[in-house]
This record gives sequence, C-alpha cells and structure tokens, in this order.
Amino acid sequence: MKTLNRRNWLKLASIAGAAPLLKPLDNFIYPNSPIDIDSMVDVDYVRLNYNENPFAPSKKVKEAIINSFDISARYPGKPINELERKIAAREGLDPKNIVVTGGSREGLKATGLIFGLEGREIITCVPTYYALMSYADHFGAYINKVPLTKNLEYDLDGIDARISSNTSMVFICNPNNPTGNVLDPEKLKSFCESNAHRTMVFVDEVYSDYITTDGYPTMTSLIKKDLNVIISRTFSKVYGLAGLRVGYIIAREDIAIRIREGLQAGSNVLAVVAALASLEDEEFFRYSLNKNNEAKELIYHTLDELGLEYIRSHTNFVFFHSGKNINDMIREMKKRNILIGRPFPPLLDWCRVSTGTIDEVEKFNRALKAIYS
Ligand SMILES: Cc1ncc(COP(=O)(O)O)c(C=O)c1O
Repeated sequence: MKTLNRRNWLKLASIAGAAPLLKPLDNFIYPNSPIDIDSMVDVDYVRLNYNENPFAPSKKVKEAIINSFDISARYPGKPINELERKIAAREGLDPKNIVVTGGSREGLKATGLIFGLEGREIITCVPTYYALMSYADHFGAYINKVPLTKNLEYDLDGIDARISSNTSMVFICNPNNPTGNVLDPEKLKSFCESNAHRTMVFVDEVYSDYITTDGYPTMTSLIKKDLNVIISRTFSKVYGLAGLRVGYIIAREDIAIRIREGLQAGSNVLAVVAALASLEDEEFFRYSLNKNNEAKELIYHTLDELGLEYIRSHTNFVFFHSGKNINDMIREMKKRNILIGRPFPPLLDWCRVSTGTIDEVEKFNRALKAIYS
C-alpha cells in the first residue's frame, strides 16, 4: 500500500475533518514498507533556517543508538545520571550542578516558568533567542527589552542601568542568536560578578562549542563561586543531535533542584546515549567545526563580493545586512528552494543564514547573487 506523504496527509486530514483521522495516521506511522523518512522532513528544501548540523549524526553516534535500542524500554534515570557525571567532570563541577533537559529549550522554559511566576521583571537585549522570555511572559513576567548597541552587541551597560529591586532575572545570550557575536570576556565576567547578588543572571551558551580560541567567557567559574548564575548548553549544534532533544543547565545546587522540578518531559534514553557517545567522538566534533568554518568563509566571500555588511560569527550561522525586507528575502529564497532564518525585529533588513553542507552553501550563494543581479 502506498504511504501518504506528510503534505498529502495534512491536505486529506483538513478536507476530511477530525473523525477519520485515525486511519491515515495509522498508515503513516506503521506503513508496510520502511518508514518514509523523506515525507517527514522538507527534503526538497535546502534547510538553512534552524542552525542545525547537516553532517550529523556521526557513525559512532548511530552505532551507540542502535546498540542501546533494547534499553529504550527502561526509564532514562541511569544514563541521565551518567551524562550529568560526565558533563560535571568536564566542567570541574559536581553532578548536582548539572540538569539534563529535553533540548536546552526545555531548560529555558522551565527557568522562564519559575521566574515568570514570580510576576516580576526579566531584562534582556533584543533581538535575541527569546524562548525563556516568551514563557516567562506567558506566566506573568514583565519583559524589559534593551536594544543592542550600535555594533549590534549585547548592551551590558544598558541592562545594568535598568536592574532594580523588581528584576528577577537578566538573560544574556553569548554568542547571541541572531547576531553570532560574543561579548568581551572580562566585561561579561565583571557584569555577572557585580550583578549576581542583585538578581539572577542567565547566560545561554548554546553556541559556545563553536568557539575554539582561548578566552571564551564561559561563566562556569562563577558557578564554582556559588553565584546566582545559570548557564544553558546543548547537544543540538556541533554535536548534531537537534532531533533527539538533549541539552543541559549548569547552576548552583539549590537552583538546579528548582529547575529540575520544573521540567516537563526531560530527555530520553536514546538521546542521552547518543549524547554520551558524541562526547567521545572527538573526530566528528573537529570535522563539524572545520566544515562549519569552511562554510562560513564561503558565505563571507559572497557577501564581500556583493558588498553586503555582515558580522563575523562565532556560531553556525551568519547575520548580514541584506538591505531588503526579510519577508521578501525569505520569499525570494524559498522560490529557489532555500529556507533561511525568520525575521528578527527590529532588524528587519538583516538576514540570518545557517551554515549547511558545502554544496548547500554554494546553492545559497548562487541564489543570493541571482537576487542581487
Ligand atoms: C541561542 C539558542 N538557545 C537555545 C536554543 C534551543 O536549542 P535546543 O533546544 O535544540 O538545545 C537555540 C536553538 O536554535 C538557540 O539558538
């Protein structure tokens, strides 16, 4: 029997209404032939919109998942403990400082819920990765938004000036999404040290694995000093496990306990096994970093040729000044089968493109040149 692809199934479902939904859904999940993976993702498109790693999962990670399949009948407590121990050892911390989450987004949401419920204020710069604030806003927090500086960097002085007794948290994304830039290490450290006694400081370090030069200002040293600092990291980026959903929070033990209590689903056995294997796969990690740098250089080269301003990125995406409305850019690129990043107001004439395989980046470069020809 022919399997319905997702688009056709959605069409059918919307025409048919809710009643007969079970039948096509059954067919979709349990076809007689192997599951039609192509129908589950937009394979027609070059996906440069979600900052994923196009080279993953690595061979070693795939093997680890397959070899662990039998334990998927068991709850994930034991492998999660092992992952927390491994991460803690790498960071020179205690496992009680680590909370494994269902993607770092779950950690952001749990934190947003806890601090949102206090009904106070969260200060952040915009644009940034907004998941924590969206959630906190939903639960009653007031979001105090500080614009980025002229150079499109996080405005730490601007945030500092707004902190008051009503501020329950400051959110900083470093490197920032969508700009891809990093803060000066000393400046961020002194900001955190001087403000962590006034409020909680959350630092999203999801893209930190892309920074291989010395001096990246991870704030883990402040957790060793028991300050009010929370850090989030992920296995979705260089490690390439975005679809498996595994990330983690690093925080003082009492804060970690509160966040753990706020988790909704957590991660799962196979994701955690994959994360453990990925930590051992140094070769794939290096390969991903090298390919990412190669891809960024190709994008920079085209932007230079076109005379378009951009920010040198410490991540797996590039933010550039297209000078065109982002919705038009998205449409123009989509016509050429390429998906790029969403709008990041108020920078509506800037565009975020993720790195992909070299072939995908070349397609993007050709499309960009065509748009500006
Ligand atoms: C800055 C930042 N933080 C967090 C996330 C969430 O990532 P995940 O939930 O896959 O760990 C993303 C996703 O792109 C991101 O850009």
